[in-house]
Amino acid sequence: MRKIKLFIFAFLLFIGSLSAKEGMWIPLLLEKYTLSEMQEMGFQLSAEDIYTTDGTASMKDAVVIFGGGCTGELISGEGLLITNHHCGYSEIQSHSTMENDYLTNGFWAGSREEELPNPGLSVRFLEYMEDVTSQVLEGTNNLSAEEKERKIQSNILCVAKEASDGEKYMVEVKPLFYGNQYYVYVYKVYRDVRLVGAPPSAIGKFGGDTDNWMWPRHTGDFSLFRIYADENNEPADYSPDNVPFKPKKFFSISLNGVQPEDFTMVLGNPGRTMEYIPSHEVDIILNQRDPDRIAIRDKKLEIISAAMESDPEIRIQYSAKHASISNAWKKWQGEILGLQRLDAVNKKLDFEKDFRNWAETEGVWESEYKKVFANFDTLYFIYQDFIKASDYYSEIVLRGIELFQVAASVDNMVRNLENNQDIKWESQLKSAEEYLSSFFKDYNRATDEKLFTELLPMLASDLKPEFLPVYLIELLSKHQGEDLVKKVYGKSVLHNWPEMKELLAEGNKQQLLKLRQDPIVELYNRLNFHFETTINPVVNVVSKRIDQNMESYMAGIMKMKAGEPLYPDANLTLRVAYGKVEGYNPQDGVKYKHYTTLKGVMEKDNPEIYDYDVPVRLRELYDTKDFGRYAANGDLPVCFTASNHTTGGNSGSPVINAEGHLVGVNFDRCWEGTMSDIMYDPEMCRNIAVDIRYVLFLIDKFAGAGYLLEEMELVGGGEKVRGTTSIDAKNQGG
Ligand code: ARG
Ligand code: ASP
Repeated sequence: MRKIKLFIFAFLLFIGSLSAKEGMWIPLLLEKYTLSEMQEMGFQLSAEDIYTTDGTASMKDAVVIFGGGCTGELISGEGLLITNHHCGYSEIQSHSTMENDYLTNGFWAGSREEELPNPGLSVRFLEYMEDVTSQVLEGTNNLSAEEKERKIQSNILCVAKEASDGEKYMVEVKPLFYGNQYYVYVYKVYRDVRLVGAPPSAIGKFGGDTDNWMWPRHTGDFSLFRIYADENNEPADYSPDNVPFKPKKFFSISLNGVQPEDFTMVLGNPGRTMEYIPSHEVDIILNQRDPDRIAIRDKKLEIISAAMESDPEIRIQYSAKHASISNAWKKWQGEILGLQRLDAVNKKLDFEKDFRNWAETEGVWESEYKKVFANFDTLYFIYQDFIKASDYYSEIVLRGIELFQVAASVDNMVRNLENNQDIKWESQLKSAEEYLSSFFKDYNRATDEKLFTELLPMLASDLKPEFLPVYLIELLSKHQGEDLVKKVYGKSVLHNWPEMKELLAEGNKQQLLKLRQDPIVELYNRLNFHFETTINPVVNVVSKRIDQNMESYMAGIMKMKAGEPLYPDANLTLRVAYGKVEGYNPQDGVKYKHYTTLKGVMEKDNPEIYDYDVPVRLRELYDTKDFGRYAANGDLPVCFTASNHTTGGNSGSPVINAEGHLVGVNFDRCWEGTMSDIMYDPEMCRNIAVDIRYVLFLIDKFAGAGYLLEEMELVGGGEKVRGTTSIDAKNQGG
C-alpha cells in the first residue's frame, strides 16, 4: 500500500513537472537544458528545427522583431507576416483618414499594388547569436569597477564591429545574468514592410481596455504585413521596384486546433523580466512603485476618459494615448494582487535565507556575499526615495502634462539657436514642425489643462520638498485650480499651433529666444533641471551600484544552482517558452476553460458599449453559422490559453504545436498571472493567443480576402496542402 502511495505521489510529481513551465530559454542551449523535457511533453522535432546556423532553415528564420518591441512571423514564401493588431496599431492609424478610417473599418489590400508602405517600420531577422563572455570580459580581472566598465565597453565595441561585417548587419551585445555572461546578437534588418490587412478595431481590439490582461478573452488581435526586398532578396529602402521577400523558412498553419494538454511553444522576443531581484526591490515595487504609478494614472485616465466620452473627436485623438496609459496601469494592479497572493516578499526572504545557508556551507558567505546583502540594504534605502521622485517626474512631467512635451522640444531648439548651430537649424525646424503638427493633431487644450491642474499638485503633495524646485512650491502656494491655469496656460503661446507655426517659420532669432520666457517653457525647465541635477543622477548611480552587487549575487545563485537549468531574464532577444494548452482555476470554485468561441463574442455584444460593439457582418456570419472549415463543435474557436512563460515583446509571437505548425498568435497574459515578470506561478500564469482558425476565418469569410490564403500552407488531417483546399480538418479541438 505504502509503495503504491509512493508511486502515485511520484507520478503526480512527474505530471506536475510536465505541465505549466517557467522559463524563457536561449535557443542555442535547448539541447543542453530543455529539449528532452520538451520532447517528453510531446514536441516532435529537434533543437535544430528551432535554431541552427548550419546553413539550413530553422524556425528562427521565420521569426522577426517587429518594429521596436513586438514579434512577428512569416506565414508564406512571399514575405507575408502576421503580428498583433496592437503591434501594427500605429501603422494602421497612420494610414487612416476620415474618408478611409482603417482603424474603424479594417483594411485589406486587394492586390500587391495596394499594400501600404510604412516609412520608419523595419523588421529584423536573427542571423545568429553567440556566447562572447570571454571576449567581453577579457582583461577585466583585478580592475576597479569603473575601469572594468570601460574595458567591457571597449571590448563590446570590438566584438560588435567584427560581427557587423562592414555594417552589413545590425549587432547588439547584451549582458545576461547581470553581466555574468554576454551574448552577441546579429540581425539582418528589412526596411520595406507594407501593410496587407487588418480587421476593424471592433475585432482586433475587441473588449478594449476592459478585457485587456483578462481571460476569458475574445479579441482577434492580429494584422498582416509583407516584407519587401531588392531583386537579390536583400534589404532595401522602400521602392516600387522591390519584390516580396523570400524567407528561408515560414510556418505552416494547422487547422487541427488545440486540445488541453497539447504541447505548445512560443518563439519570440520577450522584453524584460526581473526574476532574480532581491526581496528589497520586490517590496519597493509592490508597496511603493506600483501603487504610486497607479494613483497618478488613475487621475490621467479619469480625465482622459471623461473627455473621450464627451466628444467623438477627442475619442479619436486620445484613443491610442488612453490605451497605452491604461495598459501598464492595469498590469500593475494585477501585479500587486499576484505578488500579494504569492507572498512574494517573504518568498524572496526565504530564498535569501537558503542562499545564505548555502554560502555558509560553502564557506563563502563572509568573504563574498555578506557585503553584497549589506550593500543591498544601504542602496535600496537610498533608492526608495529617489525612485519615488523619479516615478513622479516621469509620470507627470515627462509624459503626463502634454504641453511639457512641446516645451521640451521648443527648449531644445532654442538652446541650439543660442549656441549658433545654424547648419542644423533648418533641419531642426523641419523635424520640429513635423513632430509638433502630429502632436497637435491629437491635442485637446481643455483636457490638457485638466491634466495640468490635477497632476502638478501631486508632485508637491506627495514628494519630499528636497525633490521639488522652490519655483514650483512658490507657484503652487500662490495659485491653484483655475487661477493656476490662467497664470500658466493663459499666458503661454505653446498651445496655439497656428501661432507657433508662424513663429517658427518666420520669427527672428530674438523672438525665438523669447520663447524661453514662456510660462510653460519656464516651468518645464525648472522642473526638468531639478530632475536632471538632483534626482536622476542619484537614481543612475545607485542603480548601477545595485547592478554591480546583483552581478555578484547572480554569480552566487548560478553556483548554488549549478547543474540545474537556469534561464536569464528577458532582454528582447529570441527565446523559447514551452508549456501546454491548459485553462486554470482563478479562485476557489471557479475553473476556466482553455478556449473561447464566437458565441462568447456575441454574448458580450452591445452596440451601446464602445468596447463591445460587434460589427454587423460578424453578427451575420454568426447567425448563419457560416464558419466553414474553421469550425469546431459547431462553433468558431476565438482564443486559447496555455502555460508558456511570456512577457511584453512576446506579442505577435507564434504559438507552435508539437509538429512545428502555427496554431495561434500570442497577444497577452491572464489577470492572475501578471506578476510573472517578477515571480512566476505555474498554477496561475497563462499566455493568451488568438486561435489561428479565427484569424483564417476573419481573412476568408469576414474580409473576403481568401486570396491571401492561397500563398499560405495549411495543414489539416495529416495532410499538407497549399491554400484553399477542402481539407477534412479534424476540428475537434476547442
Ligand atoms: N496587454 C497586452 C500587452 O501588454 C495587450 C495590449 C493591447 N490591448 C489593449 N487593449 N490596450 O501588450
Ligand atoms: N501584450 C504584451 C505585448 O504586447 C504581451 C504580454 O505582456 O504578455 O508584448
